[in-house]
Amino acid sequence: MSYSNIGILTSGGDCSGLNSVIRSALIRANVLGYELIGFRRGLQGIVHNDIVKLNYNEVDNALWQSGSILLSNTKQIVKDDKSAYTPDELCKEIEKSCDAYNIKGIIFIGGNGSIRCISKLFEVKPDLPIVVVPKTIDNDVANTDFSVGFFTSIETVSNAISNIRSTAISHERTIVVEVMGRDAGYIAMYAGVTSGADAILVPEFKYDNEKLLEHVKMAHKQRGYCIVVVAESVESESCKNQDVQIGDGFSRTRYSRIGEYFANFFKQNNLDSRSVVIGHTQRGGTTSIMDRILASAFGYEAVNNVVQCNFRIMLSYSKGCIIGRNITDVAKCVSRRLDQNDMCVQIAKNLNIYIGDYCITA
Ligand code: F6P
Repeated sequence: MSYSNIGILTSGGDCSGLNSVIRSALIRANVLGYELIGFRRGLQGIVHNDIVKLNYNEVDNALWQSGSILLSNTKQIVKDDKSAYTPDELCKEIEKSCDAYNIKGIIFIGGNGSIRCISKLFEVKPDLPIVVVPKTIDNDVANTDFSVGFFTSIETVSNAISNIRSTAISHERTIVVEVMGRDAGYIAMYAGVTSGADAILVPEFKYDNEKLLEHVKMAHKQRGYCIVVVAESVESESCKNQDVQIGDGFSRTRYSRIGEYFANFFKQNNLDSRSVVIGHTQRGGTTSIMDRILASAFGYEAVNNVVQCNFRIMLSYSKGCIIGRNITDVAKCVSRRLDQNDMCVQIAKNLNIYIGDYCITA
């Protein structure tokens, strides 16, 4: 059968670089004689036939624009009667769409949640024509060194900390900066190291309140102020995260505002302290150069793989190359966590930044 189109969609939380992947895929698809069809709001676009034929005008600024021109979706896909689509039903909808729009394969840009969902679909239908591109600011997708969106988020956080530093200096304060990172401490570690933080707390390393305090006091003595970066997923004895049902069949973690906890802890120990939550600014902003490079390479290779019928893979960035990994193998791995041999962890240790002791399970 001769196909004229390739499909593409974005799924899960947005991040920078999604539009750059779409732009690159569009350019490559057109060169190879295919049109690129976007499904809006992830899998919802497939079940609701909500499509848009992409043309170059729509992606002209996409290289550096955050968000998703195709919109995204973190909710379960439900039918009119509000019951969830089963994997079998979703597979049928995907096949129906591919037939209806003469689509050879679909490029699925998603993070861990989307990868697990797609892997369930492959259990039902092993020959689904899907190629996955990994994206997440958390950088916690297994089997790829980096995912689209991570580099922009650490640049945003690192720049925010540089702006916060002047207040810390002028008022001789300890400022605690709380950053995102659902299960992994990549954002905290990379942004902390690149902005000259004194202490970085991540879920993979166990901290000790007394040692942390000692280190913060030492930083004050040496330079008169202190910056502590903490990942949102870090917990304390009195500050635990909670899994809450959000009414659509999914549960979400409600974080404990750990930044505030540490600012109070420092205040109780006679240090003038404030906490700042960086929040969703980490997911937006002008797409960083590294994300533009990664996204452009992924978009190009995703189209090549669709055209060669290399399906059931997630593209991975490994040692400077883009390679395809079996999606089921990726889904079997638990989320990627910071490793004690990671280059930024090593830099933190070498530069005497307090990071606690390695204990992945925390
Ligand atoms: O997984 C990406 C992420 O930005 C996490 O770092 C963060 O905990 C979460 O999504 C926030 O999700 P939402 O935008 O749904 O609150």
